[in-house]
Amino acid sequence: MTKPTYFVTTPIYYANAEPHIGHTYTTVVADTLVRWHRQRGYDAFSVSGTDEHGEKMVEAAAKRGIDPEALARETSASFTSTWRAIDVAPSKFIRTSDDVHKRNVQAVLQKVYDNGWIEQREYEGLYCIGCERFLTERDLVDGKCRDHERVPERRREVNYFFRMSREFGWLRDHIERHPEFIRPERYRNEALAMLRDESGLGDLSISRPKSRLSWGIELPFDRDHVCYVWFDALLSYLTGAGFDGARAADAQSPEFGARWAAAEHLIGKDILKPHAIFWPIMLKAIGLAPYRRLHVHGYWNVDDRKVSKSLGNMVSPLAMRERYGFEAFRYFLLREMSFGLDAGFSEEALVERVNADLANNLGNLVSRTLNLVEKLCEGAVPAPEAPDADDRAVLEHADAARERVDAALEAVQPHLALAAILEFSSAVNRYVDGRAPWKTAKQPDTAGQARTTLHFACLALGRLAALLAPFLPAAAAEIAARLGGGAVAAGARVSKGAPLFPRVELVREA
Ligand code: MSP
Repeated sequence: MTKPTYFVTTPIYYANAEPHIGHTYTTVVADTLVRWHRQRGYDAFSVSGTDEHGEKMVEAAAKRGIDPEALARETSASFTSTWRAIDVAPSKFIRTSDDVHKRNVQAVLQKVYDNGWIEQREYEGLYCIGCERFLTERDLVDGKCRDHERVPERRREVNYFFRMSREFGWLRDHIERHPEFIRPERYRNEALAMLRDESGLGDLSISRPKSRLSWGIELPFDRDHVCYVWFDALLSYLTGAGFDGARAADAQSPEFGARWAAAEHLIGKDILKPHAIFWPIMLKAIGLAPYRRLHVHGYWNVDDRKVSKSLGNMVSPLAMRERYGFEAFRYFLLREMSFGLDAGFSEEALVERVNADLANNLGNLVSRTLNLVEKLCEGAVPAPEAPDADDRAVLEHADAARERVDAALEAVQPHLALAAILEFSSAVNRYVDGRAPWKTAKQPDTAGQARTTLHFACLALGRLAALLAPFLPAAAAEIAARLGGGAVAAGARVSKGAPLFPRVELVREA
């Protein structure tokens, strides 16, 4: 039987900034979803990459006195090596300067042009380099771009327009009929609001005159223009999934077909419009079905301000690994942010959460259970003797946690999944406290009960390892190894090892 396919993407990150907490969050969520699907027998595939064209890149490169190509090479290498270092590398990493991607973009442009989706027009308006687009009234606050707080330039250009506006009715209908299409709900409503009030939308300019910007992919039907960076960037999802622009949309490879039918995108809330509005219409123009689901998360803030390159308040994943261990940071990211809402980052909050959840709760359960098994049962999982309802309840709890974890991950709410796992761990800690096997083991008439307690505690650790594997792969593998590496059963050799989640302490920068 062939495996079902799962396909997830992160945004492709602008190659003008080093990887920070915002990029790391989305990449870690994608990695978690991939691991969870693999655990359930899926053929799971993920795409990430770097977005390397556009004016922002030219600006950033000029500031450093290098050319955009060199900047792109350097930054994309820094993304790939960071993802490798923290073990979250995607199945496929796309650079928009890759030849295969450029060929796809040109093939798609030619095809949609031939099919009447692109029109040449004269355009005049207010342009923001930060957004890489012309602004509308609603983008302005006191004459400045609301996102970048800079005064836009008045520009007049010959532009090629993607005739998107004629599809707004179709798109609204699609979103209304598919409540799962954009999640969480608030972002679905936001997208519907954009479509209801079209004054903020219109046709999409997809070209930039080369006289002004040469760092981009040439339009195949007019070599004096390059492709607008968003049109280019969104197509990286297709390139990453194995799309071949030289073939018709209905003549793609089976791998691509399976991936596309399952496609899910993860994004931050600032890029809702291109993903919720432009992208489904672009797909329609290409002759492909809309993606399956779009999952939108909020911002990581430091002191109530969005983490960003321009504010210089970036939190580096490698620095966090250095200070606290990567899985501690990974745990914090997944547990602290309610997917869909903003979250605050501080090392104080990280230390507090990691100590409470990992050191005191999970880590403590692992070490006390394995210690007791070594001490009282000669280092092997004991056989149960006459288990009662409380003992069996441990496994019922495990089943309930599994259900909650699966439902939460299906809905891309990793924080709820981890909350369920930690509740299960607390319940097992309470069970062990209540049974006090270190006491019952001392009396001949209750020694059997101690063995039963430790048997069920070991089974619970096995379940915890499986539940945790997508979230904390290294720690989960370590728990499984200490339990003997196979199915947890009476007689399996255990080893207690060093503390799995040592308490962490705040590192103050010198
Ligand atoms: N290149 C575009 C995406 C093209 S996708 C076809 C882009 N790049 S970005 O590097 O600026 O941002 C990439 C992602 O990082 C976005 O989803 C954005 O929301 C996310 N984040 C950037 N800063 C963030 C935080 N402070 N917090 C959470 N995520 C944020 O946009």
